[in-house]
Amino acid sequence: MKGKKRLFLIFGSIAILVVLFAQCMNNKKAAPATENTIAGAATCKQCHAAITDSYLENPHQHTSHPIEGDELLNGPLPHSSVFAFDQHLKVVVEKRDSGMYQVAYLDGKETIARRFDIAFGAGVKAYTYGSWQGNELKQLPLSYFKTIQSWANSPGFPSDRVYFDRPIGLRCLECHSSFVNRKMVQDGPLTVKEELDGKSLVYGIDCERCHGPAGKHVEFHLSHPEAKAAKYIAIYKTLTRQQKIDACAVCHSGNNWEVQQSTFSFKPGDDIKRYRSAKVSLNSSKEPEYDVHGTQSQLLEKSKCFMKSNTIDCSSCHRTHENLKGNLTIYSQRCMSCHTTIKHSQATLANAMVKTNCIDCHMPKQASKMISFQLAGKNQVSTYLLRTHRIAVY
Ligand code: HEC
Ligand code: HEC
Ligand code: HEC
Ligand code: HEC
Ligand code: HEC
Ligand code: HEC
Ligand code: HEC
Repeated sequence: MKGKKRLFLIFGSIAILVVLFAQCMNNKKAAPATENTIAGAATCKQCHAAITDSYLENPHQHTSHPIEGDELLNGPLPHSSVFAFDQHLKVVVEKRDSGMYQVAYLDGKETIARRFDIAFGAGVKAYTYGSWQGNELKQLPLSYFKTIQSWANSPGFPSDRVYFDRPIGLRCLECHSSFVNRKMVQDGPLTVKEELDGKSLVYGIDCERCHGPAGKHVEFHLSHPEAKAAKYIAIYKTLTRQQKIDACAVCHSGNNWEVQQSTFSFKPGDDIKRYRSAKVSLNSSKEPEYDVHGTQSQLLEKSKCFMKSNTIDCSSCHRTHENLKGNLTIYSQRCMSCHTTIKHSQATLANAMVKTNCIDCHMPKQASKMISFQLAGKNQVSTYLLRTHRIAVY
């Protein structure tokens, strides 16, 4: 009797376990996507092939990438591999067995060598480079500048010594990549340091960085191929102008903010104030001065085009799925879509540009006050030119 009861119990438990286990498996298979499920950039192509292909040309896609093989030797770089600070001190870009390195020499003796691991920037104007030191990313002393086709001391670096210790923190990656895991680690009684998990880094800016997690969108459309209207994804058309601008301003309003939480979780439609707030300035009566580098949204908001029209936003001129770089004729057509009649003086009308290029007169290139770079030899500083987004008569 006892034996039978025990057998019954054992079989009973096994049966329950089997049922539970099966449920688990089912759950795993059918775990529904939530609004935070990331689908991954590779999944978009099957339904959005044209956009995925044209986006390959856009600088956003390439704004960070791992350095592999000999790319620095084959690419546009380097016309010269030596950067001399002075007659004693130089940094040389060298190929070694485990990759490409920046190597510092003092009077011909090697003092430090660090590998190129990550390039920042799509190379429109410049590349800067990061090197992993354990779980910390450090900026390399030399950057490459397209305008001068040459290496230069990285912006803001000391000009009299070689500096290998500037950390590249989460903030850089929040604007220049799609995701990385960060951990704050206590490294002293009162200090914490930031550690980044390189393996979790998603390079470049991918579709979901601008459109928000699309796991649920993909799940729905895969199982409802007949549905023509987009589901479970932010519809840009329905956002307010401020929300549209904020979706770009996350990365295009500069870095002078108190950060509340990582912008990696920002989705179109979110209130940007939950992510960052203005720094409290002791000198708050003075209007802040916006540099042309990185503050496109503030400058645009200072333009009459913005203040006097309710519609202008970044997409009035830009298409982030294409590369329009340098096509000033197309950009000028965007101006003319609002400005059909213009009261130009005779003198202005005499200028050949007036029909095809509004940009050079009304959004001139200006030198950034934040970024300038030092060339080989001392004290020679080169400017970094950007278009101002304060559209006006100059
Ligand atoms: C199984 C097909 C499918 C996949 C996979 C898919 N989508 Fe879509 N998506 C659609 C359909 C259908 C629409 C509605 C028609 C259209 O706008 O092209 C749509 C529309 C959109 C829209 C437009 C919303 C608007 O403003 O109207 C965005 C943005 C979008 N998808 C993003 C993505 C992203 C990002 C991915 C990859 C992570 C993705 N989709 C993967 C089917 C898909
Ligand atoms: C996740 C951060 C991020 C978001 C969001 C973002 N950008 Fe950018 N954007 C960048 C970075 C970084 C660059 C510099 C790319 C490079 O050259 O490395 C850039 C470059 C650009 C450029 C210059 C390159 C070109 O295509 O001519 C334009 C224009 C631009 N962004 C417009 C926009 C607009 C419009 C939006 C909103 C729809 C937007 N960006 C959203 C980070 C972002
Ligand atoms: C708040 C967002 C933001 C942060 C933080 C940020 N960047 Fe950028 N970065 C941009 C934008 C936007 C551009 C392009 C337009 C411009 O210069 O205004 C850019 C341009 C660049 C370029 C030139 C790209 C090219 O194709 O010419 C490099 C290189 C670069 N950033 C490196 C860095 C590094 C390294 C860090 C961290 C130390 C950093 N950035 C931090 C937004 C950011
Ligand atoms: C830098 C931000 C940004 C990135 C990255 C981005 N988009 Fe968009 N996308 C936008 C904006 C802004 C709009 C709405 C305005 C427009 O059409 O330019 C849009 C519109 C769309 C639409 C609907 C309108 C249309 O043109 O059909 C689809 C679909 C879409 N995106 C898919 C994608 C896919 C797929 C990727 C990745 C390959 C991607 N987007 C990457 C900003 C971005
Ligand atoms: C969405 C519509 C729109 C677009 C696009 C647009 N503007 Fe404007 N712009 C306006 C409005 C509205 C005003 C204010 C006119 C007024 O004061 O009567 C204005 C004013 C101006 C002014 C006078 C500024 C001043 O300070 O007096 C200039 C110059 C100008 N725009 C040039 C441009 C150029 C160049 C472009 C393209 C790069 C452009 N606009 C794109 C709507 C637009
Ligand atoms: C009225 C048209 C217009 C509007 C609106 C506009 N831009 Fe631009 N933007 C331009 C033009 C023109 C250029 C220069 C393009 C070139 O040289 O290839 C440019 C260049 C840029 C660049 C590259 C900077 C440089 O100097 O290389 C960035 C980044 C950018 N825009 C971001 C934005 C963002 C973000 C917004 C919204 C806050 C925005 N733009 C709104 C017309 C516009
Ligand atoms: C050679 C430089 C130059 C070019 C090119 C140019 N502008 Fe102007 N623009 C000016 C100047 C200067 C003024 C002030 C009035 C004057 O002296 O003509 C002005 C005034 C304006 C105004 C304010 C007057 C008004 O009608 O409200 C607008 C808007 C404007 N321009 C738009 C444009 C557009 C759009 C284009 C391209 C189709 C363009 N401009 C090309 C120099 C230029």
